[in-house]
Parts: sequence; structure tokens; C-alpha cells
Amino acid sequence: MQTVKLAIAGFGTVGTGLARIIEENEDIILARSGKKFNITSVLVRDLKKQRDYLPGPDVKFTNDVDEFTSGSDADIVVELMGGITLALDIVKKALEAGKHVVTANKHLLAEHGIELFEIAKKNGVGLYYESSVAGGIPIIQAIKESLAANRIKSIVGILNGTANYILSEMSTNGLEFDTALAQATELGYAEADPTFDIEGIDTAHKMVVLIRNAYGKDYPLADLPVEGITSIEGQDIRFARELGYRIKLIGQVRDVGGKLEAGVFPALVKYTLLLARVGGNYNAVRVEGNAVGPAFFHGQGAGSMPTGSAVLADIMALSSSKTPDNTGFNNSPIEKAEILPPELASSEYYFRFSVADKAGVMAEISRAMADHNISIAQAVQKDAPSGANIPIVFTTHKACTKDVNAALKEIDKMSFITRETLSMRILQG
Ligand code: NAP
Ligand code: HSE
Repeated sequence: MQTVKLAIAGFGTVGTGLARIIEENEDIILARSGKKFNITSVLVRDLKKQRDYLPGPDVKFTNDVDEFTSGSDADIVVELMGGITLALDIVKKALEAGKHVVTANKHLLAEHGIELFEIAKKNGVGLYYESSVAGGIPIIQAIKESLAANRIKSIVGILNGTANYILSEMSTNGLEFDTALAQATELGYAEADPTFDIEGIDTAHKMVVLIRNAYGKDYPLADLPVEGITSIEGQDIRFARELGYRIKLIGQVRDVGGKLEAGVFPALVKYTLLLARVGGNYNAVRVEGNAVGPAFFHGQGAGSMPTGSAVLADIMALSSSKTPDNTGFNNSPIEKAEILPPELASSEYYFRFSVADKAGVMAEISRAMADHNISIAQAVQKDAPSGANIPIVFTTHKACTKDVNAALKEIDKMSFITRETLSMRILQG
């Protein structure tokens, strides 16, 4: 029986999940791979920290980075720390030393993936990252292998467990945003800096990784339009429900005649769609291939054991692979994608205007929208206790983002507008 030695940088939520699965599922792992996986060293920041799970006594814990990197005889280095600077250094050194690397770090891959895949290729080693996108859902392998025969027409997904947990809790249990975020953090779903989760940045990192995986092209993070969920209020969730939608944080990419149209944004999703039913820390990814048609993947997108499961699958795959396939494409280095300017995208929209109680408000807003080629689908106005900040909701037929931006700029200058208008796209199918 072959033993595979693992050096793990980071023993928090994901590292602990990985170690637990190695122990709890030892028999099935051996039956499948014929190998035993031994954690030999672990890098942490704080050696005195109380940990709710510890691997066997033979595992050497250290907080000395040099000792971890140079003293390691591991076959595979597993990076589960997060962050960029130190993680980049550890991953680079491991690849350059001819070791396979498994990482869950989408931030690192989004910013330095191109460089790291080049180093891995030069050294003939694997850099695997299944857990970096959608936690336990095997979407990277599915696109790289099972859907390899397809041109990918589009990917639309809920890719952040924390944001989805917050929106679900606000919607089903009436929780306040901050309470739901605190719970998601407590449950181990949130990033070290949860701004990444709620501002859409984590979803953007995952989209950059997914786009590379699906198209073999680099969509630079800086070019990706990103909106988060911090402007969404309880009233938007209620309006959306009344209109037959659920609000979700969406990552999307579409191939439009060879150019990629991509973005991260909160959207109203028709309640009949599978995406609308994805609750809590769950993620979902709908991939449409030109041969397979639509394929839908659903599962836990964050958390210790689901993410650990994806990390261990990568470790097992690499331990028996002679020629690791990191990106799923032969071209190297990965070229920049042709990008469709975001303002040329079109969608149906939800607008929530906040207005003072005055005659003619509806008419003025409607006129400005018509002037910018935006056709109204529905309008909802509710009585409000005071005369200020009365919400008026419009949904639209398909409109061009450029026209929407111009119309909202004009409307938000009108004297009766009391707060900046909230706009969200609507996904019907
Ligand atoms: P975490 O719970 O905060 O754990 C991070 C670990 O890294 C801790 O053990 C910490 O040491 C160690 N660490 C951090 N900075 C260090 C430093 N400068 N020197 C030495 N050790 C350091 O994070 P996590 O949730 O497991 O996430 C790890 C990675 O997986 C991140 O890239 C994250 O984006 C990704 N990820 C997380 C999830 C999830 O559900 N949590 C899902 C998918 C991907 P101490 O324990 O001593 O503090
Ligand atoms: N913070 C991330 C999330 C972890 O909530 O989805 C999984 O990548």
C-alpha cells in the first residue's frame, strides 16, 4: 500500500474538515485509491489556539513558514490558509520544488492563477482547485472532464454560500442582514474578510476561475463588473416575493458571438427556476453546453466537511495522475478573453425608486424611462406612513444596461427623489 504524505498550510474550517474526512473515510478512500493519506506537517498562525479537532500525535504543527516549506518531505502541499502574500509564496515554492499543490484559495487563483499555472506546467506538476469554486460541488472537474466535448454557451450560478445564507435568512426567517452575516461567520462560511462575500468579490474570484476552466481564457478580475448585496433591504425581498421572484447573488458568463459577457450582481430570479430554490449555504451552477444543453449542479458551497470533501478528491486525483491536467486546455500561457463591454448587455430590470409624496412622480419617472428606450412591465406603489422615502417599484422589459444607467442618472437628479435608486436585473430563465 502506497502512503501519500501531505503538508497542510492552514488548519481552520477547511483544513479541519479535510483531516476529519481522511480519518473518518479511511477505508473507502483506501478501497478507491489503494493509498493511505498521511498528514505529516501543518502550518498555523497560533500554536496555542484551542482546536475542536486534532489529527494524530505524529502530525507536526508549526508556525514557522521556513520550517514548513523547506523541511517538508510531502508529496502534495495543500494550501488552506487564504490570503495572497504568504499563500502565493508557499504555492510557488512547492510547485518549483516539483510538488503537486491543492488549494481552495480562489482569491489567489483569480489574481495569480496565470503565473501559477505556468510554473506548474514548467515543472510538470498539478495545481488542483476543485474546492475553490462552489465548495463541495464538483464543478471544476465536471467542466474540465465530463463536459469537455462542449462549447460552453453560458454559466449562471449562485457561488457564495455566505451571501446566499444571508438572503435566504432575510427572506424566510425575516432576519436582519447583520444578524444573518454573523450566523454565516459563526458557521464557518464567511471569508476572513466577509466584505469579500457581501460585496460580490468572492463570487468574482470564483467567476474568473470558472471562466478560465470553461473557456481556456483569462477574464481579468479588474474587468469584471461586480455588485454585492449590501444595498438590498427587507422591502426589496418583500417586493420581489410579491412579484414572484427570489433575490440571489449571481455570477454569470455568456458567450456572445465569441465575446464573453460576464458579471456578478444581485438579481431577481423567477421563483419557478431551480436557482430560486437554492437556500442557505447551498450553491448552484447551471452550465449550458452546445451539445449537452443545460446541466444543473447543486450542493453545499461552503463549510468544513463539504469543502474538505472537494479538497480530498483533488488530493486523490493528483496522487494517481501521471500527467495532471490543471486548466483543461493545451494553450499556454492562457490568453486574455475577448470581452463584451458590460454596458452593451441587456436584461429585464427591477427598480426601487424612493420618492417624496408628490403629484406627477410616476409620470415623470415613466417619461424618463421611455426617453431611454426602457419599456415598463409592472409598477407597484405602496402607501407609506410618512410622505418621504415612499418606495415605487418598476419592473421592465429587456433594456440595454447603457440606457438603464443613463435613465437612472437622470431620474436620481429629479427633485422628488429622496434616496439613490436601487436597480437589479431580473432572471426569467
Ligand atoms: P480559516 O478557518 O480562517 O483558517 C485559516 C487557517 O490558516 C488557520 O488555521 C490559520 O491559523 C492559518 N493561517 C492564516 N494565516 C496564516 C499565517 N499568516 N501563517 C500561518 N498560518 C496562517 O479559513 P478557512 O475558512 O478554512 O478557508 C481557508 C481557505 O479556503 C481560504 O482560501 C478560503 O477562501 C477557502 N475556502 C473556504 C471555504 C469555507 O467554507 N470556509 C470554502 C471554500 C474555500 P490559525 O488556526 O492558527 O489561526
Ligand atoms: N466564503 C465563501 C462562501 C466560502 O461563503 O461561499 C466558500 O468559497
